[in-house]
Amino acid sequence: MNGVPNHIGIIMDGNGRWATERGLKRSAGHKEGGKTLEELALHAKNLGVKYLSVYAFSTDNFKRSEEEVNYLMDLLIYYFNNKLEKVCKDNIKVVFSGRKVNLRNDVLEAMESITEKTKNNTDCVLNICLNYGGEEEIVDATIKIADEINKGIIKKEDLNRESYYQYLYQNLPPLDLLIRTGKEKRLSNFMLYQMYYAEIYFSDLYFPDFKPKDLDDAIEFYKNKDRRFGGVKTN
Ligand code: FPP
Repeated sequence: MNGVPNHIGIIMDGNGRWATERGLKRSAGHKEGGKTLEELALHAKNLGVKYLSVYAFSTDNFKRSEEEVNYLMDLLIYYFNNKLEKVCKDNIKVVFSGRKVNLRNDVLEAMESITEKTKNNTDCVLNICLNYGGEEEIVDATIKIADEINKGIIKKEDLNRESYYQYLYQNLPPLDLLIRTGKEKRLSNFMLYQMYYAEIYFSDLYFPDFKPKDLDDAIEFYKNKDRRFGGVKTN
């Protein structure tokens, strides 16, 4: 039996459909999703989860209407400047993964401020993937590595599966459990390197409806998995 997963990732899908099915604007779904994330982060921390990575905005989400992108960015700023204060008080450290290019200055400032405010917190890390893509992360890591090899800082022999993590946006452990809400069964370019042996839990619930008790169900699913990492069971 496994214990509580060390690192959980969540693809928070279904905000738009949650709203549309209620006759609301898509933005209302994102707002409700924000409330759900707040509840889940505190619950995960209380269960002893050490790392929680969430997909807030992908590099491809820039293809959405300007109105929706701007609403999401405003909502993120609101969360970073206000709501996540409770998270800070609860000893959760906030970090970000993703590219800084194309992000508005006010978004970058709010990201910097919450990172700074929470940098000494130690119970749990909330990794917010913003302007993030898994392939982009691998490409960006490869560029950093090539650069260090060219400058003679490292030798190519120094590279291996484990040392590669240092070059990703954040040096976090691999994902143990990946949750995707919102009915679809795909990975959508999320943490491709880190999910190499993750157990995957798909939920039909739209993200705003995915509550702490649903996280408990996902963790129960994980606990019952036999994780062999490509080996065979010895007992
Ligand atoms: C995917 O649903 C969700 C997003 C693109 C945004 C996720 C953002 C939040 C939950 C807001 C709060 C986040 C933080 C970090 C404070 P979708 O819009 O693709 O839904 P659909 O598939 O139903 O259209």
